[in-house]
Amino acid sequence: MHKLTELPAWRDLQSHYAEVKELQMRDLFAQDDRRFDNFSATACGILLDYSKNRIVQRTMDLLISLAQARNIATEANRMYSGEHINATEDRSVLHTALRMPRGDRLEIDGVNVVDAVHEVAAQSAQFTDKIRSGEWRGFTGKPIRHIVNIGIGGSDLGPLMVCEALKPWQQRELQMHFVSNVDGTHLAEVLAAVDVESTLFIIASKTFTTLETLANAHTARNWFLDSQATEKDIASHFVAVSTNKEAVSEFGIDTRNMFRFWDWVGGRYSLWSSIGLSIRLAIGNQNFDAMLNGAHEMDRHFIETDYRSNLPVIMGLLGVWYGNFFNARTCVVAPYDQYLHRFPAYLQQLDMESNGKSVAMDGSSVEYSTGAVLWGEPGTNGQHAFFQLIHQGTDLIPADFIVPAVSQNPIGGHHKMLLANCIAQTEALMKGKTLEEARSELAASGQSPAAIDAIAPHKVFSGNRPSNTLLLEELTPETLGSLIALYEHKVFVQGKIWGINSFDQWGVELGKQLASTVLQELETGDIGSHDNSTTGLLRYCSGFLD
Ligand code: F6P
Repeated sequence: MHKLTELPAWRDLQSHYAEVKELQMRDLFAQDDRRFDNFSATACGILLDYSKNRIVQRTMDLLISLAQARNIATEANRMYSGEHINATEDRSVLHTALRMPRGDRLEIDGVNVVDAVHEVAAQSAQFTDKIRSGEWRGFTGKPIRHIVNIGIGGSDLGPLMVCEALKPWQQRELQMHFVSNVDGTHLAEVLAAVDVESTLFIIASKTFTTLETLANAHTARNWFLDSQATEKDIASHFVAVSTNKEAVSEFGIDTRNMFRFWDWVGGRYSLWSSIGLSIRLAIGNQNFDAMLNGAHEMDRHFIETDYRSNLPVIMGLLGVWYGNFFNARTCVVAPYDQYLHRFPAYLQQLDMESNGKSVAMDGSSVEYSTGAVLWGEPGTNGQHAFFQLIHQGTDLIPADFIVPAVSQNPIGGHHKMLLANCIAQTEALMKGKTLEEARSELAASGQSPAAIDAIAPHKVFSGNRPSNTLLLEELTPETLGSLIALYEHKVFVQGKIWGINSFDQWGVELGKQLASTVLQELETGDIGSHDNSTTGLLRYCSGFLD
């Protein structure tokens, strides 16, 4: 693979950046009354307006050349067809196969994985129906009313985010709970809210070796057995979702109550697999299938659509434009939909665990920035917290605004207010306010010339701050599926441009290794050799522990 910074498309982008970096979006809009039409695209019920970006047509042409030079379409085909593109773990990356319709074929080592996917999906669907209909009973004969998903990272964030996002589709008698943190407080608070006779625990862990999940699972099992329940009752209250049958069995869960998946499903890409069991239970099989369909539609859009109208390609390239040329080190995601309040947290793992890498596929160190810090909160709350910095701070922070045109809760004028705020924020970021405008506003409000001189500079907004708007027709299982898949593919595009492996996560290992040593030291009180900060902290803590 050619070095990114030596590609002609990259070099062209560097000189183009020097030419356009001072251009003002407000001027570009004034010069082109078709800018919205020229820089927007629609797919799968999602309109992407990217006209409020610091681009001209040539910028997009050059970015597209970069995507061509990096063979994004060919690379996507390699992923879809099951090649081992996760080279450092020697694995396929096939979350797209999880949303392929029954009857499709994708053969890997002589096995049609689509059949395997649908076989497990059918097992999950059957189980879901039994729980939701009340046919499945707890050890005292009561139907299940509480689902506690114990998992972390990809085995928590995706299911939790979707269950929150699709609340209007939830069977409300079933209460969903998620426990991820090894902090006992998390589990304790959930256990205090559930009732042992009507609670089902889903132990969700791809590897079934994750410390936090196993600690929580063991404590939950002890809590269960501390009631009237006996070992044989575990079968009706504990199920597992994993790729590791032996570990599940060792934990004491009957493997008939295990929902499997495969090593070619990355943790952060796993909500479409059995890891989504809690989602199925919450919203039912039909809605889960609609979500899969939405994602599959986006998979097809990504692979079949010309780069110029391809949502994931456009968003991925714009991220590269800001990250590598404008040196933007963070990006913000603001969903203007309370149901999407966990979406930024979910995206943090998807994006930052995937593209937080500094070594290229060939093992060399990269000489350019890769994944940006992603953060965000729902609008309009963010406007009253951190938007000040996005508008007037010293850093350029590209923003994604996500908003549905139709609300699930059309109460009074709320939705129009929400939409108005979302759209107005993108306008304000783009236009800004000049010193002249600030001065005339102050003059119009009757301020003295001295006050105008003193205050006006503080009221200036530089503007020219970029944003994408993702306008969903409505937030439904289908459009949510498409939206998530859109971000998955955006991450893929960026990983391919940067030439890194978006599908491993070695960076989480060192902390895990050290934690196991430190834990042993805290347990025994026998503190080994560390730097003096670590030793100081361990000694200090030890004073409080028995
Ligand atoms: O520590 C990171 C990680 O490996 C994530 O990639 C993964 O989603 C999470 O831990 C949980 O892993 P598991 O599902 O195997 O418990």
